[in-house]
Amino acid sequence: MIQATLHQLHVFETVARHGSFTRAAEELSIAQPTVSTQIKQLTKSIGLPLFEQIGKQLYLTDVGRELLTTCQTLFESLENFEMTVADLQGKKRGKLRLATVTTAKYFVPRLLGSFCKQYPDVEISLQVTNHQKLVRRMLANQDDLYILSRPPEDVKLVSQPFLDNPLVAIAASNHPLAQRQHVPLKALQGESFIMREPGSGTRNAVKQLFDRNGISVNVRLELGSNEAIKQSVLGGLGISVLSAHCLLPELTMGELVVLDVAELPIPCRWYVVHLSGKQLSVVAQSFLQHLLTESQKISISNSISGMPESSCA
Ligand code: PGA
Repeated sequence: MIQATLHQLHVFETVARHGSFTRAAEELSIAQPTVSTQIKQLTKSIGLPLFEQIGKQLYLTDVGRELLTTCQTLFESLENFEMTVADLQGKKRGKLRLATVTTAKYFVPRLLGSFCKQYPDVEISLQVTNHQKLVRRMLANQDDLYILSRPPEDVKLVSQPFLDNPLVAIAASNHPLAQRQHVPLKALQGESFIMREPGSGTRNAVKQLFDRNGISVNVRLELGSNEAIKQSVLGGLGISVLSAHCLLPELTMGELVVLDVAELPIPCRWYVVHLSGKQLSVVAQSFLQHLLTESQKISISNSISGMPESSCA
């Protein structure tokens, strides 16, 4: 039986995550020689090297990689156990790790607000990134729950749809297409188009629509942020297709308009997902319930004129 203390495993996991003894020491608020001593003792009791130093770079060995996976599973189970104990004592305490795609950041923090009021002892981390990076986090089991549309089909997931996410064509209110009705999709070919970056779920959905209809648009700009796209559309640089959830203030103020284009909005839905086989903590289960209930109060179609009541498949 390997003689390793929880502290040594914790130090090892921190070094492995950062790829650095110095940064691990900083995170753990201990001296760097202490980190080195803990890793030396752990290496001795395992009997094989855990790290390999090449130049300035620190790499995990095969054994190191195995140990990292074991540590992550162990710490997750311990955290879940602590949350279960707190729950049995009538308290919700512990950490909730959430990750959402960029377009969900327009409503997820509000849902988190009401959850935090109910459970003030829950510590929350929210990662906001694009679809591709979110799927990478998912595959590495970095978070409890993920919010995105079009969950990947080649990963075993438990997924629940909870809200419509229509992707709409937008233009500045003084754009020539803004006043037109029943615009055919082909008409977009003549327009300057502003597209999200590769790896974005919005971009994939838009490209699929254009490819399916044999449309090739003139992409004038590629931008990695919904906010930057809105500003560019407002600045007259072109038109775009974005999630209606990003657009409420500008549509309400009348600065942007939803274009009446055939085949649009693109029907999508938000899903909350986790890896199948993952044991959700008590806190994650509570948030999941909260999300499913509270999201029913969000109605995007009421806020956007011209949007069909349920535009999503
Ligand atoms: P993204 O998100 O464009 O920010 O990647 C959209 C999604 O996954 O639906």
